[in-house]
Amino acid sequence: MSPRACVIGDPIAHSRSPLIHRYWLAQHDIAGSYERQHITAAALPAFIAELRAGGWRGCNVTVPHKGAVAAQVDELTPVAARLGAANTLWLEEGRLRADNTDVAGFMDNLDQAAPGWRARAGAATVLGAGGAARAAVHGLLERGVGTVHVVNRSVERATQLAQAFGPRVRPAAWDKVGNALAGSGLLVNTTSLGMSGQPSLALDLSPLPAGATVYDIVYVPLETPLLAQARARDLEVVDGLGMLLHQAVPGFERWFGVRPEVTKELRDLLVADIEG
Ligand code: ATR
Repeated sequence: MSPRACVIGDPIAHSRSPLIHRYWLAQHDIAGSYERQHITAAALPAFIAELRAGGWRGCNVTVPHKGAVAAQVDELTPVAARLGAANTLWLEEGRLRADNTDVAGFMDNLDQAAPGWRARAGAATVLGAGGAARAAVHGLLERGVGTVHVVNRSVERATQLAQAFGPRVRPAAWDKVGNALAGSGLLVNTTSLGMSGQPSLALDLSPLPAGATVYDIVYVPLETPLLAQARARDLEVVDGLGMLLHQAVPGFERWFGVRPEVTKELRDLLVADIEG
């Protein structure tokens, strides 16, 4: 049987992972498949059993199962264990293993789109305190960013996140965001604000230092109001599409044995899909 992989989630119809993996399968002439699987929480244990039985090479995992799968596999990579969440599963020597490639996807996109970011980011501000914020905070701390301000609507959630990561992470309420921005060379939005159909992200960017980088992980639309505002201020901008592309690389390599490349052609294909 040719190798099969998939993405699981609930809902799943919106997922663009099949477009990415099918592009790479075709590019490398691999007779494999990559499917969308609508898996509810109730159906998750049966799907995990299918994986263990070898019905799939592996899968990507999206909302709302990233935490649940981390608790059901045999082995987690250190980053998946640290975050308590996984998005990439595979069977290796009979053991079900899981990684969290959101961190690498987040950082690889930032490194590629804004190579000089680190020199300017002694401190950073992350908006949001959910799973995507944890991945961003983890990556930034690993890369030696001295202070990460976490600004969230619910300040309790920001405080919990800060407690999990230690004193370099400082929680702040939304109305204090200006203080956080004033010293930050990097601003990252991990909330859903600005996504099409969601409220806009209303933020005064004027406290950000000149030369700062603004990274929005929202990619529908590609040019979010936050990025448009940053561009108008002549700040460096990073959109979220690259994170989606880069987080897909390790899974494809594990399942199909080839490390794929994030090409401009693939990015353009996704842009056309989003804008079409
Ligand atoms: P993910 O795991 O994708 O990061 P999540 O855990 O649902 O998703 O987190 C979504 C983030 O967007 C949270 O930080 C949330 O703020 P709260 O923790 O206060 O809920 C933020 N968010 C979503 N809608 C928002 C809104 N209308 N205003 C402000 N923040 C919002």
